[in-house]
Amino acid sequence: LRAVVLAGGLTFEREVSLSSGTQVVEALLRAGLDAELRDADSDLLPGLAAAPADAVFIALHGSTGEDGAVRAVLDLAGIPYVGSPAAACRLAWDKPAAKSVVRSAGVGTPDWVALPHSTFRELGAGAVLDLIVARLGLPLMVKPASGGSALGAQKVARVEDLPAAMVSCFAYGDTVLVERFVEGVEVAVSVVDLGEGPHALPAVEIAPESGVFDYTSRYTPGLTEYHTPARLEADVARRVAEVAVTVHEVLGLADLSRTDLIVDAEGTIHFLEVNVSPGLTETSMFPMAVEAAGHRLGDVLTTLLRRAAT
Ligand code: DAL
Ligand code: MG
Repeated sequence: LRAVVLAGGLTFEREVSLSSGTQVVEALLRAGLDAELRDADSDLLPGLAAAPADAVFIALHGSTGEDGAVRAVLDLAGIPYVGSPAAACRLAWDKPAAKSVVRSAGVGTPDWVALPHSTFRELGAGAVLDLIVARLGLPLMVKPASGGSALGAQKVARVEDLPAAMVSCFAYGDTVLVERFVEGVEVAVSVVDLGEGPHALPAVEIAPESGVFDYTSRYTPGLTEYHTPARLEADVARRVAEVAVTVHEVLGLADLSRTDLIVDAEGTIHFLEVNVSPGLTETSMFPMAVEAAGHRLGDVLTTLLRRAAT
């Protein structure tokens, strides 16, 4: 089986993706597969035509990698790939839309408002700020409505800090998501389907030294402590696993995903977001969960590639 691993691309998470892609290729080679890293630049299709793959692994993060665009192109070219279909990715990539669907399935998620940039012109900045605080109170989490690796995401405790936080999110896209901030323990629950339906791997608990799981805390080894499995009571551990599988199913995802959740002091679970292309770097949670489940990353990814190729 010849596998091509797509990484890089021209997104804000290019560097993260190259690091995921490198790890994936190394893991696949160790598992005995013929695997090659390919930068998902404008030569993507000629490259795949010249050296066809039996299956593609998409280690792309950020817009085109996670919004379904690359998958739609692979669909048109008839090239099999591991992971969720394009339409499901488009839904998951839109955080407010995903929150609505997940909430309809009975899973809690912090209350939110999604604000396209035009709202400010239409209503005026003062009215927008009043609306947000009246609806959600303080503190708040402000993030790009579509994005990853916590880029642009900020906790806001004072209304006067809200405009600057929103301006930095608009650098990443047209719509800002403002959520009620929920205090609690952050856990990441990876889901894989190796042919017997989706099942959750052990939850990874995230404890950043700085208290904020931002880009630096994510990708600088040593700046965040991870506990795998998460230090949750058995009942809560069971429920976070169920929630991650529900999210995977209700959004129509396939093969692999990672759902990020907050567990508050009462043990209530709050959905934050789901990643259709979870980070696979040295400091990422999906590989930690695979290892904690007693598997090797290369074997799991090989199984997924073989299933995609048949
Ligand atoms: N967006 C990064 C890669 C993650 O969620 O792991
Ligand atoms: Mg993410």
